[in-house]
Amino acid sequence: MATIDLAGKNVLILGGSGELGRRLAAEFYRRGSRVMLAGRSSGDLEKQARQLGPEVVYSSFDLRDADPGRIIDEAYRLLGALDGVVNAAGIVAFGPLEELGDEALNDLVAVNFSGPLRVMRAAVRRMDGGFLVNVTGVVAESPIGGMAAYSAVKAGLSAATRALARELRSKRIQVLDARPPHTETGLAGRPIEGVAPALPDGLDPDVVAVRVVDAVVAGRRELAAADFAP
Ligand SMILES: NC(=O)c1ccc[n+]([C@@H]2O[C@H](COP(=O)([O-])OP(=O)(O)OC[C@H]3O[C@@H](n4cnc5c(N)ncnc54)[C@H](OP(=O)(O)O)[C@@H]3O)[C@@H](O)[C@H]2O)c1
Repeated sequence: MATIDLAGKNVLILGGSGELGRRLAAEFYRRGSRVMLAGRSSGDLEKQARQLGPEVVYSSFDLRDADPGRIIDEAYRLLGALDGVVNAAGIVAFGPLEELGDEALNDLVAVNFSGPLRVMRAAVRRMDGGFLVNVTGVVAESPIGGMAAYSAVKAGLSAATRALARELRSKRIQVLDARPPHTETGLAGRPIEGVAPALPDGLDPDVVAVRVVDAVVAGRRELAAADFAP
């Protein structure tokens, strides 16, 4: 397994305004990478970028757009080169399938599955070596009742990510599927539909972020839910 030196690498963080994404960005930055944050809210992105450092760049985009892959062109424009794309964007919905609305279902598919694949496609068309990361989640391994659509799109992205690890070997692009268990980011309190069930205490998001970045450095292809055990 090849290891990656993150110093001087240009890394795009999708969901860089979110709780896991901003911690991942901080960890890459701490290890010497040049970081670009992307997410929907430009106000949040600007705030996170300012907190990280003066040279951190950002751009707002929406994974539900017809062509979210344009964020890759923007990354090349702002960073000059691209060595890594880390996808920590996502949304969740709770409740039985019979109550799930079409709009929520479409958004779950676009934000958690097809949008990230479109961005990754745009990235690998331009990247020369480097790495890709998708933060999928434990539900990709163990689907949960009351979260059928969320489990399904996460499992789909996880499968695509593991297939890409093989497909992109010849392009020297390392690909990591990270499947953390429930983590205390507050995501469960921000569903696009439904109400979260009672959940056990989650992991510390700082610990999750460090573990994901360590796995990138180590050239790992998978971080299973069990790999996040304290
Ligand atoms: N927290 C957990 O327990 C847990 C466990 C396993 C896996 N995960 C996964 O980890 C990832 C990060 O979750 P988190 O807990 O850090 O949640 P979070 O704090 O809510 O962050 C979500 C991020 O996704 C972005 N986003 C949402 N909709 C978007 C869209 N349409 N286009 C572009 N960006 C969009 C948000 O940006 P805006 O706010 O600007 O929209 C935000 O930056 C998600 O994929 C989640 O499924 C989380």
